Amino acid sequence: MQERWTAVDRYLTDLVVREDSALVAALEASEAAGLPAIAVSPPQGKLLSLLVRACQARRVLEIGTLGGYSTIWLARGLPADGHLTTLELSPAHAAVATKNLERAGLAAMVRVRVGPAAETLRRLREEGAPPFDVVFIDADKTGYPEYLALVMELVHKGSVVIADNVVRDGAVADPASADANVQAVRRYHEAVAANPRLSATVLQTVGSKGYDGLSFTMVVA
Ligand code: SAH
Ligand code: DHB
Ligand code: MG
Repeated sequence: MQERWTAVDRYLTDLVVREDSALVAALEASEAAGLPAIAVSPPQGKLLSLLVRACQARRVLEIGTLGGYSTIWLARGLPADGHLTTLELSPAHAAVATKNLERAGLAAMVRVRVGPAAETLRRLREEGAPPFDVVFIDADKTGYPEYLALVMELVHKGSVVIADNVVRDGAVADPASADANVQAVRRYHEAVAANPRLSATVLQTVGSKGYDGLSFTMVVA
């Protein structure tokens, strides 16, 4: 099935999503720098962009930058005076992303912050950062439960929190899974479900990145 999922993603990307040269260049530069090919797919990226627009977001937080491919999509959903903060552990990844964002003409509205995301999230709180309207969680999966807890102090009623890779080839439904990423993602879903401030859904997805899923959570109180 993977071949067909990839072919359909290609068809839909060319017809409906329409990646431009800055996005293609970001992937090419990421590959040339030896970054893993784990960015969101073009249809997923466009969804992030449209969600930012639909929310009329002015402030976006991303956890897990890689080469900035999803960052470009998210930032493009913002108005000209919008701002995006993206958190990345690896200085090498952050350097690739910074170049990609410059090429895309987005350097002025994006700040890449290097370090362990949990530390940077704590620092954002200490700095009294204004709340974020949209948050995209896509870093190390074992960190997801902690990231959600920290993000809850950086959002407002109406904010939307999206998390990538939350179905994991279907393994998420296996309580006995020995995979630490699966167990962490299960803790993430449980924390969302148990939080009365949150209302959520999860969509299973197939495509060029295989079988996985996206979590959508709104802060409703
Ligand atoms: N959002 C990107 C893909 C992110 S891949 C896109 O779709 O284009 C996950 C990224 O999270 C990697 O770059 C990895 O270095 C980073 N990461 C891993 N552990 C982290 C941590 N503890 N804090 C911040 N970033 C981390
Ligand atoms: C991996 C990380 C991702 O964010 C993703 O979308 C796919 C794979 C990974 O770490 O393998
Ligand atoms: Mg991901």
